[in-house]
Amino acid sequence: MPKIVLISGTDRPDSKPLHLARLAKKKYQALGVETEILSLADYPYHAIIGGKYDSETPEIQSFNQKLLQADGLVFFVPEYNGSFPGALKFALDHLPYPPVELVHKPIAYVGEGSGAFGGQRAVEQLQMMFNYLNAFNYPERVFIQRINSNFDEEKGITDAFTAKLFDEQCTGFAAFVKQQHATK
Ligand SMILES: Cc1cc2nc3c(=O)[nH]c(=O)nc-3n(C[C@H](O)[C@H](O)[C@H](O)COP(=O)(O)O)c2cc1C
Repeated sequence: MPKIVLISGTDRPDSKPLHLARLAKKKYQALGVETEILSLADYPYHAIIGGKYDSETPEIQSFNQKLLQADGLVFFVPEYNGSFPGALKFALDHLPYPPVELVHKPIAYVGEGSGAFGGQRAVEQLQMMFNYLNAFNYPERVFIQRINSNFDEEKGITDAFTAKLFDEQCTGFAAFVKQQHATK
């Protein structure tokens, strides 16, 4: 069975991206895809402070291996200062370089922000980085605008059109990852 890793892209505890990743996990489960959430709120930053690139500590290796070995990745990305969080770039910069396992890796994106653009800038800047690494950027992206009024932890995404796009991304990305996995 293919495995999709859902990455909550901020180290802020109990963040909206983490709640969105949990919502997606339920949807992927219903679609018969195994998932695991990697939250940057649990990332062992203490192990990389001080320029410890290529860190071989088990906790960093565990995070990196889960990310690199997944059949597909979904990033849940908040917009911080017109970009994606530095905490996310910091963690990604501590993958082994060059991260050859990311070549052709299917990656989907869900952006969100408190403003009107729904994390579009954050997602597009992150996509630019994964373009450079020759990953496969799944084209159907989701942007959740005004997250504080369009998302509720109990009800999920309350804007009907955005909720439909979210569901469609889950269905389409699950099918794409399954298809890729079958050809391995
Ligand atoms: C440091 C920081 C910078 C932010 N910058 C932006 C921004 O540029 N545009 C935007 O729409 N929202 C911005 N926000 C709001 C967040 O996108 C939004 O509150 C957040 O993603 C909601 O999820 P959270 O639970 O991670 O806070 C910022 C929030 C923080 C903490």
